[in-house]
Amino acid sequence: MSETKSKGLMGLGDPYERRWMVVSLILLIAFMVIVTVAGFAMGFQVPDDDARVDPRTVADSPPWSEPGLRDLGNGEYTVYMIARQYLFQPPQITVPVGSTVTFHVTSVDVQHGFKLQDTNVNMQIVPGEVSTLTVEFDEPGQHNYICNEFCGVGHTAMFGSLTVEAAAGGN
Ligand code: CUA
Repeated sequence: MSETKSKGLMGLGDPYERRWMVVSLILLIAFMVIVTVAGFAMGFQVPDDDARVDPRTVADSPPWSEPGLRDLGNGEYTVYMIARQYLFQPPQITVPVGSTVTFHVTSVDVQHGFKLQDTNVNMQIVPGEVSTLTVEFDEPGQHNYICNEFCGVGHTAMFGSLTVEAAAGGN
């Protein structure tokens, strides 16, 4: 009885094995769906050529030769930031409340981290690649950015701070 029953799926005898194969198959399909959605619908991609730089020369070539904040107007800002042992350039940023800031961060030496406290910005900074994330600042306050990848003896001293200023005057 049980022998004929068990031939139902893929002709395999052991019901436990069958169950595990079904579970594996479901996981496999789930991962394929997740990767496809993340890659094509949500834009999670490995860095393309635009996001690659030469870590030996990047600090001397624009826009990285002048790291810091760029005001694009309409409350939009871009930050070009260099991470190196053991500091961030620039070490301080100030933006008005309501700003949308896009961070482009790269390293000129070893792997660093860029975590902007109290936001969802948390990036690995790999030499030769530019990590980019955009964040909106709706409330005034201070956010420290810290290196959260061990990068050497000065790692714990590697941080900077971003200040979100309350709107001046009344509007
Ligand atoms: Cu840079 Cu840790």
